[in-house]
Amino acid sequence: MSVTSRDILDMNAFHGDGDDPLVARRLASMGAASTLFFERPIEMVSAQGAEMTAADGTVFLDLYNNVPSVGHSHPRVVGAVQDQVARLNTNSRYLSAVTEAYSERLLATVPVPDARIAYTCSGSEANDLALRIARLSTGKRGVVVTEAAYHGNTAAVTEVSPVSYRQGGVPDHVRLIPPPGPAYGNDIAGGFASALRAAIAGLEADGHGFAAFLCDSIFSSDGVFAFDWSALVAAAEVTRTAGGFYIADEVQPGFGRTGRGLWAVAAAGAVPDILTMGKPMGNGFPMAAMVARADLLARFAEAFGYFNTFAGNPVAAAAGSAVLDVIEDEGLIANAAAVGARLKDGLTALDSPVIGAVRGCGLYLGVDIVAGDAPDPDGATRLINALRGRRIMVGAAGRFGHTLKIRPPLCLSAEQADRFLGVFAELTVGPA
Ligand SMILES: Cc1ncc(COP(=O)(O)O)c(C=O)c1O
Repeated sequence: MSVTSRDILDMNAFHGDGDDPLVARRLASMGAASTLFFERPIEMVSAQGAEMTAADGTVFLDLYNNVPSVGHSHPRVVGAVQDQVARLNTNSRYLSAVTEAYSERLLATVPVPDARIAYTCSGSEANDLALRIARLSTGKRGVVVTEAAYHGNTAAVTEVSPVSYRQGGVPDHVRLIPPPGPAYGNDIAGGFASALRAAIAGLEADGHGFAAFLCDSIFSSDGVFAFDWSALVAAAEVTRTAGGFYIADEVQPGFGRTGRGLWAVAAAGAVPDILTMGKPMGNGFPMAAMVARADLLARFAEAFGYFNTFAGNPVAAAAGSAVLDVIEDEGLIANAAAVGARLKDGLTALDSPVIGAVRGCGLYLGVDIVAGDAPDPDGATRLINALRGRRIMVGAAGRFGHTLKIRPPLCLSAEQADRFLGVFAELTVGPA
């Protein structure tokens, strides 16, 4: 079987022509920019916890959405947003006790030394700013990323998001290395570090120099490579020795998803120069941030002004504070660890020819779907749509699109995990 790399937007995307009137309207207005999930797209009307309800009343178990990570429409987040938006919402050029308190609380958690925060509205903007800072501080342009990384959608960030390339090759100032996994044999951390070293040497030899190693700490779009803990530590060391900056992209694993503290990179014991965050930060309220060493941010501010109209507004800060409250008060990191382990153990125990490796940690798991030894992206798509037929939603990831991505809200219960495991066993192993 020949399997080619897949664009992240193509994975599990709807490719029909819109028999359904609402689909037809969507395609008529958004045209080629429209991406919809599933062979039969779903119109969602409401959601609570880890469940979403469609317009026809069908309730889906949501094992896909990492943005509403403390639970869909969590009443405390909704209440905090309603209260603040009714009181005041304005840009960050005024003092706001809500925003100042949130910044202090968040900065106290991050593994970046002497950290300062710059708010943005999306993870893409946070990574874009991180790249600008690394390039300004090093005077170099080269960036190393993993081979199916996704870091966002601005012009600069698309260049370092190989999973988004549809045409043309890798820009010459970008070098790709495999994520820390089987590609490196028995010494994953050592192999990963050597690959990074070689990529940096290539950038230097070709005159680009090395600005940054930009790395999603859980390698989501690469197919979820739960860290070999030491790989990130080794990569940070190689990066520093080479004079570049380590940018930890925590847009996916941040805010407790791995079940090992708020930040995956900290759990791995690695120290980044810059950390970016987004998606779950406001539980759906659009907010993101970049945290950088104070000296790096100061150098950047000397060279450029930076203002982002909607970023760091008091409503965002209220949403973000409520998210941190809920994570703490509902013990969601411990829940991610316990329910994640239950899911992973259950999946690993399944004896099915179509299930390859099961990877991940906490409530971020990747399950390879295979035909013999080969990746089977079509099989993964069939399974995703079969699960949808059984009212369970999962996504796809990985260089070949054959990895099921299981990434539910962190409040997923043991019963909900078991329900998924039961249905998944029926679809992959057969009736019990
Ligand atoms: C690892 C990672 N970084 C950055 C981004 C970009 O975030 P946003 O879509 O908020 O711009 C994404 C989005 O999927 C992501 O997965």
